[in-house]
Amino acid sequence: MAEPVRLAVAGPLGHPIAIGAGLLDRLPEECAAADLAPPRRILLVADRAVRPVAERIAARLAAAGHSVSTAWLEASEARKDLGTLEAIWAAALAARLTRRDAFLALGGGMVGDVVGFAAATYLRGLALIACPTTLLAMVDASTGGKTGINLPLPGTPGELGKNLAGSFHPPRFVIVDPEVLTTLPEREFRSGLAECLKHAILDGDGHLAWLEAHAAAIFRRDPETLADLLARSVAVKAGVVGRDPFERGERAHLNLGHTFGHALETLPELHLTHGEAVALGCLAAAAAGGNAELAARVERLARALGLPVRLPAPLDRAAFDRRLGFDKKADSAGVRLVLPRAPGRIELVPATVAAIDAGLAAIDPARPAS
Ligand SMILES: NC(=O)c1ccc[n+]([C@@H]2O[C@H](COP(=O)([O-])OP(=O)(O)OC[C@H]3O[C@@H](n4cnc5c(N)ncnc54)[C@H](O)[C@@H]3O)[C@@H](O)[C@H]2O)c1
Ligand SMILES: [Zn+2]
Repeated sequence: MAEPVRLAVAGPLGHPIAIGAGLLDRLPEECAAADLAPPRRILLVADRAVRPVAERIAARLAAAGHSVSTAWLEASEARKDLGTLEAIWAAALAARLTRRDAFLALGGGMVGDVVGFAAATYLRGLALIACPTTLLAMVDASTGGKTGINLPLPGTPGELGKNLAGSFHPPRFVIVDPEVLTTLPEREFRSGLAECLKHAILDGDGHLAWLEAHAAAIFRRDPETLADLLARSVAVKAGVVGRDPFERGERAHLNLGHTFGHALETLPELHLTHGEAVALGCLAAAAAGGNAELAARVERLARALGLPVRLPAPLDRAAFDRRLGFDKKADSAGVRLVLPRAPGRIELVPATVAAIDAGLAAIDPARPAS
């Protein structure tokens, strides 16, 4: 096996991240290196979709002298709730986890967020080992220490407000093993690629050029190219979080594509995944930023990565504007847009009607391809 790439987030939310094919099979060694030498009690909370991987990991940890209990989750936004959090706390009690023990989250961002919150709160905070299994969780959710659950919104018929309860709780360490991506459904894979596209725009010309050169190999899920992609993409998020852990400035750049994206994602008639909405949002933001060359480049790259570049149906503009107004990331001055003026040159500006119009025009289904 090739040597893993080792990265780290600096600062108060700091943690190491190891990236490499086959790394999950070396979990006991990684635990020992992170001050979790056996014997520990480990509560493995796993997405049922990766059951064979979970069983393999549990056997390895047990063979190394750990005492492993396993709890299974169904990954869905509806289940990222208080009931699931309580069930994980109950499993931790049943497994008799103590302060020297650990939670292990194996799954996508849903599992990572809710298990992370359980780890943050159980006995006022236990070690969390994060093993992301979706591309989105690998390049985004598992890095940076944000955990949380959704809460029911008062006055609605069971609608959930996203990530309304949570805390910052960095993992003890993160293992990113591209081998688990082989079973990830195509649409989930492409969804994660949108965050990689976002990271490339934030990072600059070199990163964009690398993505352009490797789009076809990425799309084929060539293992070596994937490992390279993961290392590049995780490095961008890790760098930003290290420089601005609590979102006083630069961390807001990670919302690139997400202001437009969140509003589009919540319009039910568009049937967009998070990543599809983010890809459209990145293109809209590039157009709104006024750099036509960059917008054309983002459009070509999104296309090459199998991501949409036009809305699947005409937009109900009034509904879109309402959703935009509900953006919880908006401050008191109103909605703000993260605009790329050039690769790697990002500005956070108050939204104007002109900027939103320019962004939406770029993804209008009636617009010819660039
Ligand atoms: N904490 C953060 O900083 C942060 C950042 C971004 C997103 N998030 C959160 O992440 C969540 C979305 O994460 P996601 O996109 O990973 O979704 P997810 O966890 O719901 O997983 C998506 C689907 O893929 C399946 N799956 C997972 N791994 C698989 C594999 N290897 N093979 C086959 N199927 C697999 C799951 O069962 C699920 O059906 C949201 O709740 C979002 O709020 C958190
Ligand atoms: Zn996102």
